[in-house]
Amino acid sequence: MILPTGHPVRHFDRIDSTNSEARRLAELGECGPIWLLAGEQTDGRGRLGRGWVSEPGNLYATFLFSLSEKATAVHQISFVAALAVHDTVANLRPGLDARIKWPNDVLLAGAKFCGVLPEVVGMAPLRVAIGCGINIAHAPSGTPYPVTALGGNLGVDVVLAALDHHLKLRLRQWDEGGGFASIRGDWSVRALGMGESVTAKIGHEQREGIFRGLAVDGALILQEPGGGQVHVHAGEVTFAQLEQQRQKSS
Ligand code: BTN
Repeated sequence: MILPTGHPVRHFDRIDSTNSEARRLAELGECGPIWLLAGEQTDGRGRLGRGWVSEPGNLYATFLFSLSEKATAVHQISFVAALAVHDTVANLRPGLDARIKWPNDVLLAGAKFCGVLPEVVGMAPLRVAIGCGINIAHAPSGTPYPVTALGGNLGVDVVLAALDHHLKLRLRQWDEGGGFASIRGDWSVRALGMGESVTAKIGHEQREGIFRGLAVDGALILQEPGGGQVHVHAGEVTFAQLEQQRQKSS
């Protein structure tokens, strides 16, 4: 299948992980751009070493592509991809108010329906795989956080075509790092919990404060009660307001 952008799609009924397949293909010299799409994954991978439940009916796809030598700060792709998912939802389900939870989860009413796993899978040329899992038809059970699904009776092909379109536009805006200021601005207005209480788990350490925004390097800026600022580069964040909202509705 070829998408309207011209990007080809390689479909697998069942595979371990589309991100793992992207890595294998990159090792064989594949430079993309290409989408790898799976009907189901037997070893779907998520952030922070977690798994990603991948039963039929949802979207499991990885976009493998190359960057030029001028590309800086590849980790910024997390924000680019989350914006593309947000655009996709705004376009396909305009009534829904999706929010991006740092760095790249996309949520509906406080529950996650999309996760993004960007990985560098090859060098010379630099190759990146952006793995996207979007719950369309159903949300898995037993997750350590609230989850939901996009619903709307959308076909996987329709969601992939919209995602591909918006990812192409957002990658162009990012301009391999040159446009990060504008990506950062767009990400910030769609972010969950800006100006609210946040807890960041960084390894075994826990820091609490107010979410003050996204630093120029993509770190989450957390202002501690004493006024000092901590830049969180990796880890998991939770928002008190979201937790309260969740407890009320459960
Ligand atoms: C997260 O934990 O938030 C990231 C989840 C990413 C899941 C997608 S599904 C397609 C691709 N293949 C994988 O094994 N993981 C990503």
